Amino acid sequence: MALAALSLLWLTFQDASAQIPEGMSLSYYSSLPATKILIWGGDTGQGLDMSRFAHSRCALLLLVGKNAEDAEAAATQLLAEPPVAGTCPPGVEPVVHWDAGDIHNATYVLRLTARYESTLGGSPDISWNFAE
Ligand SMILES: *[C@@H]1O[C@H](CO)[C@@H](O)[C@H](O)[C@H]1NC(C)=O
Repeated sequence: MALAALSLLWLTFQDASAQIPEGMSLSYYSSLPATKILIWGGDTGQGLDMSRFAHSRCALLLLVGKNAEDAEAAATQLLAEPPVAGTCPPGVEPVVHWDAGDIHNATYVLRLTARYESTLGGSPDISWNFAE
């Protein structure tokens, strides 16, 4: 019995760790479902990869690109891919919103805070920056 529980735990750990990005702790990985994440540069390259990863973990995303076309395309793409089955906590739907602007523009960065409530349901818990 204890052995079965232990091997189930090990399988779960192995399964999870196979998907964890290099360098990310297991507790951080486990905390992502329903977590509000702001991702600068989340529409291209490594930022898009991380947006896709967070979405697969049922995070609530506001991804910001430099231009509206790319940001909207990235969000549309992600919304077409459901999160990993069983990842979303009960009652939680994945969220992917987008915006476009420059992280170096203080006016824009502050104005974006006005969208936190309507997009994420509050201030981001986490912010990742892949923007240049
Ligand atoms: C900075 O952002 C504000 C608000 O979005 C915008 O009105 C302004 O044109 C931007 N400034 C520059 C230099 O892009």
